[in-house]
Amino acid sequence: MAEKRESLHGQWSGRWAFILAATGSAVGLGNIWKFPYITGENGGGAFVLVYLVCIAIIGIPIMIAEVMLGRRGRRSPLNTMRHLARDEQVSPHWQYLGWAGMIAGFLILSYYAVIAGWALAYFFRTAAGAFTGVTADGATSIFASLVSDPERLLAWHTIFMVMTIIVVARGVRSGLEKAVRYLMPALFVLLLVLVGYAMNTAAFDEGLSFLFTPDFHALFYKVDDAGVEHLTWGPVLVALGHAFFTLSLGMGAIMIYGSYLPERTSIVKTSMMIAGMDTLVALLAGMAIFPIVFANGLEAGSGPGLIFQTLPIAFGHMPAGAFFGSLFFLLLTFAAWTSAISLIEPAVTWMVENHGVNRIYASVWAGIATWLLGIVTILSFNKWAFSFEFAGQVKESGIFDMLDILTANIMLPLGGLFIALFAGWQMRRQSNLDELNMKDGVGFQVWYFLIRYVSPLAVALVFLNVIGVITL
Ligand code: TRP
Repeated sequence: MAEKRESLHGQWSGRWAFILAATGSAVGLGNIWKFPYITGENGGGAFVLVYLVCIAIIGIPIMIAEVMLGRRGRRSPLNTMRHLARDEQVSPHWQYLGWAGMIAGFLILSYYAVIAGWALAYFFRTAAGAFTGVTADGATSIFASLVSDPERLLAWHTIFMVMTIIVVARGVRSGLEKAVRYLMPALFVLLLVLVGYAMNTAAFDEGLSFLFTPDFHALFYKVDDAGVEHLTWGPVLVALGHAFFTLSLGMGAIMIYGSYLPERTSIVKTSMMIAGMDTLVALLAGMAIFPIVFANGLEAGSGPGLIFQTLPIAFGHMPAGAFFGSLFFLLLTFAAWTSAISLIEPAVTWMVENHGVNRIYASVWAGIATWLLGIVTILSFNKWAFSFEFAGQVKESGIFDMLDILTANIMLPLGGLFIALFAGWQMRRQSNLDELNMKDGVGFQVWYFLIRYVSPLAVALVFLNVIGVITL
């Protein structure tokens, strides 16, 4: 039987501290920047529905599993997997899951920080009134001028990485809790303000029906250059990948946060709350953005610049727009900050545990490496830009898009698959019951079934379809 472990890095002050921190990790650019633009690229309603199903039957069960593994292991993801594998007397190779997670976190943060830099840049621009009365063309060209200038991008990227390293170096728990407690609700209120603005545009209904009326034919069939329709599972993979990305799953971020979780907290309830809040924020962002897209004749599938080309139009025309706008981008930066921290935390705790370095040293070096790699993303939008096709979409920002696809659509779902397999097939049923504090009733059985069969099979099927091994 496993001895009780204590985390070497401290514990949350209670259940709410965990909920806030995990929500801070989950809610970020994924909800407000990425969800709208991939929904736009993939035609709206049907994509949203597939995404919601992925959250419900794959995301939430895997989140429960990941938090549970973290709390049981009480170490960095790598050491957690090593300890748990030993406890359960299974192969020590499970620790490579921790490795893969650290690499995924590093790759994601390298581009995440660049995009967070855009939000920071927009905070200053909006505050300076750059968007007052702006037209759709004006907003598009202001965005284009930012991303075509590597030096400015580098400056914002650097500032954001420094902000991230400072918090990580000081220890994730101090400050994070307070920041999330006040800033998340504020962000939420501002999203409501934006949805209110969107309601008054002529295209609110059009925006809503784009988001919520599914057209499965358009999702699954793409027309090639010769005008022939082909079945593609690509968009389903994107929705699946995004379910992992937006919930911060599959790379150990939620696992490390789980490792600081007090013993008696209900993992199931807290996971459902976090996933619920995360989903709500994404849907609100979509409801704010698409009416503006249609009211101004913009392109729903215009890619990563979508929110930066649309929201400034709203802020440029609403009363006190410079105030609301700058506040919005400031809060978005905060949301990205609380997510960024969790992307690097697994690697930092691992360096502290296994290499005897202190937290500050570990944070600074991990931060510098990430910052350096971020330069590749910066150049993807200008000097190194090239385009390629993926899942029926033309991707225009070369290496950035590749990093995004590699991490969100491949590494995270695979990480999640292995988390599910470990919890469902390698851990004893009794270990799961103990750690979740559950009776062997219907609730547990539903989760156990999802984690053993549904999640792994769904991930595997989508993968195999995309690789074209089997065609349904
Ligand atoms: N979930 C965050 C967002 O939506 C990003 C994020 C933070 C993340 N930690 C993660 C994504 C871990 C994947 C894995 O913006």
